[in-house]
Amino acid sequence: MVYVVAVTYDRGSPLSLRPQLSQRSASLGAGPERFGGWAIRRANGTSDRDQLALPGWNSPAPQSWQALKAEAAEHPPLRVAGPFAGIGGIELGLRRLGHHADVMCEIDDGACAVLEKRFPGVPVERDVRDLRALPRGVQLLAAGFPCQDLSQAGKTIGIEGNRSGLIGEVFRLLRRSRVPWVLIENVPFMLQLGRGRALEVILNELEALGYNWAYRVVDSQAFGLPQRRHRVYLLASRGGDPRNVLLADDSGEPGLKTPARRRSFGFYWTEGVRGLGAAVDGVPTLKGGSAVGIPSPPAIVLPSGRVITPDIRDAERLQGFEADWTLPAQELTRRRGARWKLVGNAVTVDVAEWIGLRLRSPGQYDPSGDRPLVRKSAWPASAWNLGSGRFQAHSSRWPVVVEAKPIHSFLQFDRVNLSHKATAGFLKRLRSGSLRYPSWFEDVLERHLERTAKL
Ligand SMILES: C[S@@+](CC[C@H](N)C(=O)[O-])C[C@H]1O[C@@H](n2cnc3c(N)ncnc32)[C@H](O)[C@@H]1O
Repeated sequence: MVYVVAVTYDRGSPLSLRPQLSQRSASLGAGPERFGGWAIRRANGTSDRDQLALPGWNSPAPQSWQALKAEAAEHPPLRVAGPFAGIGGIELGLRRLGHHADVMCEIDDGACAVLEKRFPGVPVERDVRDLRALPRGVQLLAAGFPCQDLSQAGKTIGIEGNRSGLIGEVFRLLRRSRVPWVLIENVPFMLQLGRGRALEVILNELEALGYNWAYRVVDSQAFGLPQRRHRVYLLASRGGDPRNVLLADDSGEPGLKTPARRRSFGFYWTEGVRGLGAAVDGVPTLKGGSAVGIPSPPAIVLPSGRVITPDIRDAERLQGFEADWTLPAQELTRRRGARWKLVGNAVTVDVAEWIGLRLRSPGQYDPSGDRPLVRKSAWPASAWNLGSGRFQAHSSRWPVVVEAKPIHSFLQFDRVNLSHKATAGFLKRLRSGSLRYPSWFEDVLERHLERTAKL
């Protein structure tokens, strides 16, 4: 048998001749100084993405988002199915890059109201279990499937739970239609829970169906949003190389910030025993539920010492949506927390947008240094398999760096004082527990308690 290997160099395309930054050097702290010009500041809480130059290449002139978009225009957009669409975080991010949802599935009434208003003309089916097959021609199935059974905050039943187990419906649909691309999103606790069983089940299914895959934990903060939010993004492809979409960009993680009195500081007032969910200059992960059962906002200590909770419209912005994206849900139900739940469950739009960009304009992942994956218990933060075995990757949680405003400058809407009752309850839990925290934190809360008693 004779193999003819043709290698072409298109000098007009930056893709073919782009020099590569080794991922290892990126994770060792390649920073804005080294690649001057690629970290940009968000103005008015939104970034001018056209100025964003993606790092990941040790190139004297890193390629800008705008250039990649121009390149993307040469590749057709994909037709998408969204089986657990929620309020459409994935679909909106993909839409910004021209990809089009052919069908969405969503069982929650409030979420459906949002989808119908925000994606006019796109059919919304209700229960994924009733969806017999995907529409002909779907090229990407994108599923942020229910996380309740896999989340640290939930009952941790695992992939067999009747909510997270709905991922089985995705595989039922994939067995019927040979969809070229699959995007799956969920909480990073699934890498650990039950020795990573959920991911093992998912990857086994994908491999049995003939998919190549790559996954990576990504932090929404990398996209200039002051919300620490780690999520696993798994991309699978029949024949394509998902590493070039998901793993090729890497900025390396910036150092940890230390809490300080003059900074803003987000935390969960509903916690205080097992943890605080503390985030310096930002908020911790917005959640669909809380330790006390109801979906609720985190609290924020402002540099002035005032302790507030943000408005739902700022929470929407923290997830990359425009303010009032979920208003159609409120018109349906007055239930407290309904919009918080929808926003907390959503996929950050900017992350989906980046994936949408790379699907049309792939990078080039450098796997040198990657080793076969040897797993004793938990899964690593990134890995891949192109059909010849599983490999551990070394991609950081920061594919790009868009400089974020601190949360107190990001907020645009009303700030409400954390109530006296909530502050008192939190302080009590904090003092009776064994958590370590700076003494100024307790002073600030004490003063806030006094102030709110007079109101
Ligand atoms: C993690 S959320 C998805 C969030 C979504 N990607 C977004 O950006 O908003 C999972 C969604 O699956 C929906 N869901 C749960 N069971 C379902 C079912 N049987 N059929 C369709 N959707 C379902 C939930 O209502 C929830 O909105």
